[in-house]
Amino acid sequence: MSDTPRPQITRDDASSLDKSLRPQTWEEYVGQTKTKENLRILLTAARERGHAAEHILLYGPPGLGKTTLANLVAKTLGTNMRITSGPAIERVGDLAAILTNLSPGDVLFIDEIHRLSKSIEEVLYPAMESGVLDIIIGKGPSARTVQLELPPFTLVAATTRISLLSSPLRSRFSGGTFRLDFYETDEIAQILKRSAGLLDVEVSDELLADIAKRCRATPRTANYLLKRCRDLAQLENSALTPELLQKTFNLLDIDSLGLGKTDRAVLEVIANKFNGGPVGLNTIAAATGEESSTIEDVIEPYLIRCGLLERTPRGRVTSPEAYGHLNT
Ligand SMILES: Nc1ncnc2c1ncn2[C@@H]1O[C@H](COP(=O)(O)OP(=O)(O)O)[C@@H](O)[C@H]1O
Ligand SMILES: [Mg+2]
Repeated sequence: MSDTPRPQITRDDASSLDKSLRPQTWEEYVGQTKTKENLRILLTAARERGHAAEHILLYGPPGLGKTTLANLVAKTLGTNMRITSGPAIERVGDLAAILTNLSPGDVLFIDEIHRLSKSIEEVLYPAMESGVLDIIIGKGPSARTVQLELPPFTLVAATTRISLLSSPLRSRFSGGTFRLDFYETDEIAQILKRSAGLLDVEVSDELLADIAKRCRATPRTANYLLKRCRDLAQLENSALTPELLQKTFNLLDIDSLGLGKTDRAVLEVIANKFNGGPVGLNTIAAATGEESSTIEDVIEPYLIRCGLLERTPRGRVTSPEAYGHLNT
């Protein structure tokens, strides 16, 4: 590094940018129409009755808007949102502290709820169902249970792995369980248009549509790609052009369908090493060096959506189109 003076740094790191691009209103939250409509009815009715809304479970692959939706739920109810996550709640006492500190009507957001331990889940059941907390005081024969009444609250939980949730836990989301879907290209283009405005990037609708096709139908990835295009344009002192976009995609190893290196590695292993499958998840994980949970939660959903991969009872199989795509 040279000893040129350091420029002044203002906050523009990934997390705060993610936040500033995050929709603040239902109008800005594009797509997921059915889910939005159902939530609007649930929340408005609860608010009019002056009750806390019932508990809500959101699931789907990362980056599709679960956290954003949780924020909008709290906003609509006009209450505060306390944020925590499955792995952050290590002991029963952690959960008890969070629950007893809620104000009436608050939203408690638990991200990655599939990572809660069984013993904590069991404390959560009565809290969700009857609004009480059962605490055991003392040990051995003299131990007794004390029941604490909790303020009414709404639990909004998010997970990428609904299959890992026990059915008693699932059944307690009486407000509803909502699956977030991948976005259509025109919806992503709409999201990108707003982001480009916020980032002060000048870009044509055609180029936004180009980026929209490469983001795995995922808003977070779309915004990420837009920012990387902007970075390269800045360094090359160029406007956003088709060539500049292509160069960015090449640098990031993103192909015409928006698949990245790991997506293609998974496809390739099944298609070529195992003659199209069926192959078990763990075998794919071992052959690619990826975590099986990453393959299952992040990589496969989009490959399935593209029609390149199928999950069968005997394992994963690739479609004929997968060979066509790998050979492009
Ligand atoms: N429906 C949407 N409309 C507009 N932008 C969205 C939408 N969903 C997600 N985003 C963008 O993607 C980012 C990631 O969304 P987030 O809610 O954090 O996803 P998740 O919690 O499902 O991983 C948000 O900060 C926002 O910029
Ligand atoms: Mg999230």
